[in-house]
Amino acid sequence: MDAERLHNGAVANSVAGTAEHWDEAYGHGDSTRGWYQTRPAASLRMLDRCSVTPEAGVIDVGGGASTLVDALLARGHTDVTVLDISAAALAIAQRRLEANAIRVEWQVVDLVQWQPERTYGVWHDRAVFHFLTTAHARHRYFQALRDATGPGAVAVIATFAPDGPEQCSGLPVARYSPSELAAQFGSRWKIIAEDREEHTTPAGAVQPFTWAAFRR
Ligand SMILES: C[S@@+](CC[C@H](N)C(=O)[O-])C[C@H]1O[C@@H](n2cnc3c(N)ncnc32)[C@H](O)[C@@H]1O
Repeated sequence: MDAERLHNGAVANSVAGTAEHWDEAYGHGDSTRGWYQTRPAASLRMLDRCSVTPEAGVIDVGGGASTLVDALLARGHTDVTVLDISAAALAIAQRRLEANAIRVEWQVVDLVQWQPERTYGVWHDRAVFHFLTTAHARHRYFQALRDATGPGAVAVIATFAPDGPEQCSGLPVARYSPSELAAQFGSRWKIIAEDREEHTTPAGAVQPFTWAAFRR
């Protein structure tokens, strides 16, 4: 299929992987997945560098079963949304959080087809944008980002670095340096922090990540 020639949500979905793909991946549990981490240290470091406070409305797009939501609740955040295409992923996080799960807004939706109904002060994306390997899918992503944020909002993004793996969860990814991410985000978003992380997967592989934070 020539994804670039088609102009509907199904294209972007097929590029990023279907809900079935991700439900199947999480069906093996989250702690064996390559992106698993017990503590979202790099995310929290970037949020601190952006001076994010607990009052900020935060959305973790493609948050899956990430422990970022646990860390945000522990920090006193009261307005946290986790969005993911995989209901199975969110169910893992909800089970882990037990009663605290009701303190979180959960959205099962394909990000590249999503129409936000409100805005957030902080957009967090660890390892989702890099699945968008067509201009069309990235355009959809930036439409959602624009509609989900206002002036002054922060976007914290992590992708595989240029020397990172070419695939994640069996899907091809695009790899970025901070300046390449800045070029994607465009002049509306000013880069305010960047980092590099050597993530060690549960199987022991090292995956270089690029982190970048932007302010709108
Ligand atoms: C590599 S995992 C990273 C998960 C999480 N951000 C973390 O750091 O643990 C990618 C996540 O993006 C989700 N995802 C992939 N494509 C998506 C899409 N089009 N819309 C929403 N979520 C998507 C997957 O279900 C999965 O949870």
